[in-house]
Amino acid sequence: MNELTDKTILILGLGMIGGSLARALKAFDQKLVIYATDPNEAAIQLALKEKSIDRAGTLESLVPESDIIILAVPPLSIEKILSAIVKHVKPDAIVTDVASVKGHLLEPLKKFDEEFVKRFVPGHPIAGSEKSGYAASTAELFKDRNVILTPLKQNSLRAVNTIHALWRSTGASILGMAVEKHDEVLAATSHLPHLLAYAIVDVLAAQKQSEDIFRYAAGGFADFSRLASSDETMWSDIFIANSKATEQVLDSYIATINRLKDAISRKRQNELIDVFGRAKESRHRFISKYFDAPKIDDMTTTETSFVMDVGASNTAIGVSGDLRVPGDKSISHRSIIFGALATGVTRVKGFLEGEDALNTVAAFREMGVTIVGPDDGELRIYGVGLHGLKAPRKSLYMGNSGTAMRLLAGLLAAQDFDSELTGDESLSERPMERVIDPLNKMGARIHSNEQGTPPLKITGTKLTGISYHMPMASAQVKSCLLLAGLNAHGVTEVIEPEVCRDHTERMLEGFGYPLEKDQNRSACRLTGGGELAATEIEVPGDISSAAFFIVAATITPHSNLLLEHVGINPTRIGVISILEEMGADISLANERMIGGEPVADIRVKYSKLQGITIPIDQIPLAIDEFPVIFVAAACAVGDTFLHGAGELRVKESDRIDAMAVGLTILGVENEVFDDGIRVRGGGIGGGAIESRGDHRVAMSFAVAALRATETVVINDCGNVATSFPGFVDLAQQAGLRIKAVAK
Ligand code: S3P
Repeated sequence: MNELTDKTILILGLGMIGGSLARALKAFDQKLVIYATDPNEAAIQLALKEKSIDRAGTLESLVPESDIIILAVPPLSIEKILSAIVKHVKPDAIVTDVASVKGHLLEPLKKFDEEFVKRFVPGHPIAGSEKSGYAASTAELFKDRNVILTPLKQNSLRAVNTIHALWRSTGASILGMAVEKHDEVLAATSHLPHLLAYAIVDVLAAQKQSEDIFRYAAGGFADFSRLASSDETMWSDIFIANSKATEQVLDSYIATINRLKDAISRKRQNELIDVFGRAKESRHRFISKYFDAPKIDDMTTTETSFVMDVGASNTAIGVSGDLRVPGDKSISHRSIIFGALATGVTRVKGFLEGEDALNTVAAFREMGVTIVGPDDGELRIYGVGLHGLKAPRKSLYMGNSGTAMRLLAGLLAAQDFDSELTGDESLSERPMERVIDPLNKMGARIHSNEQGTPPLKITGTKLTGISYHMPMASAQVKSCLLLAGLNAHGVTEVIEPEVCRDHTERMLEGFGYPLEKDQNRSACRLTGGGELAATEIEVPGDISSAAFFIVAATITPHSNLLLEHVGINPTRIGVISILEEMGADISLANERMIGGEPVADIRVKYSKLQGITIPIDQIPLAIDEFPVIFVAAACAVGDTFLHGAGELRVKESDRIDAMAVGLTILGVENEVFDDGIRVRGGGIGGGAIESRGDHRVAMSFAVAALRATETVVINDCGNVATSFPGFVDLAQQAGLRIKAVAK
């Protein structure tokens, strides 16, 4: 049984795409009934003979009998065909198309009945080739290729999930995009290259020595001009339908061509080298990231170093301005997880478009969830319900994110399919027994490396709720067990030794899932088998990212900084409490609740700090901020002591060791303990620091450089993009003299 079982599928247009779809659907399930129409009688006869379709006929005869109708016709024919079929479609039939342009349909769709528009889900397989016609079709065309769905705001959840299932059955990966974004992206990546290929072949063919040109053309020309063999009617259609977006990208292309022409005529070789070098580097970066088979080493971002000037801010105004840091990482991960498991469409704003959270998006797409975006922090998640996830066809890559791996381990342990979770070099060394042990107590079957590290091989099975006293205050372990509990039999209870972040509990409430809390015992519990209802989520700015700027302004004379719209959940503001105890000048304004999370604007001014002993109950509330708190300690008068923070040794790096070694290089006296550190305040020198690929270590030393007496270079900073894309730009905006240098 699958979503397509017993469905009759009609393909209008049996060209390469329509024909390949028919073949792929038959290869997926021989019993599917497939109808087709096409003006080309030979194509129809061949398809009938090959049994890639079961029946052919007219629109009028086939449409009323079909459950899913696919318009595999050129973009400018879609409106006409929709008008022709609308009166014949069954009331619950679902309709889609395959065109490379989408925006031109928005206006015409307004004249269609709303009930019909709900069931028309535009789609676009990125799987064409220069070949055309049924003869060029293959059952494998869509395998491992992307299909972009551009669901309309009016679309029903059922319609979107059905079209997702249709394309998934062909072996494709399904992405989601807003219509406008789709047309812009395709104009740049597909339509423009086609136009250039047609143009260059046409120009060369018109030259007097065209015969010679083509005779002696090298392989590069054949590669480059391949697109000019594409179907001319289809492509003229595409340019007319997508004229606005194509014109825009064409304008910037023409400007670049003119610049290059000018550089050539003035013999400015450096300008050419500049453009070519940049293009070569970009191609290398993007091609290896998106086109080559992913290997663990390739998945880490290009290595980048930060270089900071002496006393790295403008000394007259310090660190100043109004800033907005990107969305909260913990909440962003959870918005995808819960949105995917809910029934209905969840809308998210302020989503962190960092690599970690994007890997979570990719994982849920792989498990059959349609996710539109992120686009400027906005997402639409078409939930599949608590039992609707599909078996992933490959291992799920969690990048650098311990949160994603541990939370997903809980969720996946209780599915009726098997899965594998992998991560980058750093994540591959992080301890997973903390989730494997309690999940095993619930009946899970999870296999890790001997050292208890990833990859995790999970055999989905039925779980039973337990009551679990966490040995460490870990929001990741707590959330993992609550997620497992959603699909477990009976009650799952988690008791925390110390309060730790409670975004999962707040989100469960937001999605309408009953959760009991027992403040006295620091316990929460839920009963499996309920339902999550889709909701709207506004992700606040990440206080963990804001922390770098809070410390930067605190330690730099003349600073006066406003950080807008930052999450101030009481389980996350340890950094504020600790810095205030050290003497920092931090004030909160405009406090408000947004989507179940408290938010405020934070003003920070320079102030002199005093060393303190960090209160033990603040440790889980500031767990990610210690690297930058150590930097504040280095600028304080006297010693700052931290004990009871052994957890820092198993974060993205051993943060006690990484920070101690870096601080020593900068001349900051410190003493390391198993479970903490003593940092002596005083001067900060300069030097080259290894961030060990740890985003927060890298950004903390960038902050330290504000008080350095010599240049600071921080190596291995590529992973800053996991949590804080745009860090360097924002830091420059705040007055930091920081430069990112690609290695
Ligand atoms: C997180 C919890 C914390 C934190 C991590 C994010 C979460 O880890 O360090 O960056 O989103 O639940 P622990 O719960 O393991 O302390």
